Amino acid sequence: MSKEYLPSFVKRLGRITESQKNNIKSLSSYQVNSLSDCSDFIGNSEAILDIGFGDGDFTIFLADQFENHKIIASEVYKSGIGSLIGKLKSNSIDSVRIFDGDIRDLIVASDKPIFDKVFVMFPDPWQKARHHKRRLINPFFFKVLKPHLKKDAEIFISTDWENYAETIRELQNVAIDLRFTEGKHPETSFVTRFAKRAAQEGRTITNFKISFLK
Ligand SMILES: C[S@@+](CC[C@H](N)C(=O)[O-])C[C@H]1O[C@@H](n2cnc3c(N)ncnc32)[C@H](O)[C@@H]1O
Repeated sequence: MSKEYLPSFVKRLGRITESQKNNIKSLSSYQVNSLSDCSDFIGNSEAILDIGFGDGDFTIFLADQFENHKIIASEVYKSGIGSLIGKLKSNSIDSVRIFDGDIRDLIVASDKPIFDKVFVMFPDPWQKARHHKRRLINPFFFKVLKPHLKKDAEIFISTDWENYAETIRELQNVAIDLRFTEGKHPETSFVTRFAKRAAQEGRTITNFKISFLK
C-alpha cells in the first residue's frame, strides 16, 4: 500500500563510522517501535518529541534542559542514531528513546495525547519548487501530529530558509485552531550545526512557537 506522504529526507549514501556502528549494536536498549512503547516509557512524565535529530546534539541539549521530561527522538539516518546513542552513553542519559524511522510512520496512527513539547529543528528545506511537496511541515503533518499533543502543548520549528518559513506562516490559514508566534525562545537557543552554517552563509533563522488557541 502506498503511503500518503513522500520521503521528507534526502537519500544519501550514509557514511558511518566504526564507533557509530558499534553504538547501534545497543539500539534495542533505547528503541521504541510504536505509540504504545512510547506511552509505556513516558508513564506519567511530561514528554518531548524531537523530530529529525541529526547528530543528536540538540537532543542532548533538550535532555539537559528538561531533566524531568521523557524524550522520544526520531531520525532516519543510522549514522545519526549511532551518534546519539554514543552521546547518551557518555552523558549517562536515560531519559531518551529513539524511533528509528520516518516520524510519520509512528504518529500516523491515532492515540491518546502524550506530548507536551515537539521540536523540529531545521527540517530538510527542499529548496527547489518542484521538491516543496517533500517538505515535512505541511497540513498533513499537523493533522497527524495534533491527536498526540496535550492541550497546552507547544511545537517549536526553526528554519533558515525564508521560503520554508513563509510556507509555515501560511499554514495558519489551514490549522486554524493553532496560534503561530515568531521570535527567540530559550527552548531553541542551542546553536546546532545547521544554525551555525546558516549564520556563516548569511541566512536568517525563523523560530516558530505554535500552540493551541485557548
Ligand atoms: C537538516 S537536518 C537537521 C538535524 C537537527 N535537527 C539539527 O538541527 O542539527 C534534518 C534531519 O531531519 C531528518 N528527517 C527528515 N525527515 C524526517 C522524518 N520524516 N522523520 C524523521 N527524521 C526526518 C533528516 O534525516 C535529517 O537528519
